[in-house]
Amino acid sequence: MLVLEKNSMTEEIEALVELHGKDRSALMPILQAIQRDHKYISDFAQQEVARLLDIHPVEVFSVISFYSFLHCVPQGKNIVRLCRTIVCDISGKDEVEKAIKRELKINIGETTKDKKITLEYTNCLGMCDQGPAMMVNDKIFTKLTPEKAVKILKEI
Ligand code: FES
Repeated sequence: MLVLEKNSMTEEIEALVELHGKDRSALMPILQAIQRDHKYISDFAQQEVARLLDIHPVEVFSVISFYSFLHCVPQGKNIVRLCRTIVCDISGKDEVEKAIKRELKINIGETTKDKKITLEYTNCLGMCDQGPAMMVNDKIFTKLTPEKAVKILKEI
């Protein structure tokens, strides 16, 4: 089973390399495609990308670590991103964050046990005049209060 999974991931990455080329500049689109399709980039996928692009695995890992939208651990079905930028921060983000963590029983960067929700920070969502703000998948919610945030989470 493991061998089959490995072969299928290798084939998938080979197809991506075919599509994007073997240059260093192909690294980001390849990682984005793996992230989009699998919601994370496994250790094996990282090794295969490095091997097929002929670069060091540490380089692949550093790119994944640098960009907040790339992950090396499995993500939840839904991603909740709470804005941590200054305007939301002074508009009550901390109280909203506490309520969310309490409700989900996880910290920032973690995923609920049922794999339903991953909680992350994000930078400004462009809704500063209506903060605190958060994004659930691709939908933005504004003027959050602890109660409103919890209600939104319960509806996911
Ligand atoms: S600071 Fe939070 S949306 Fe701009």
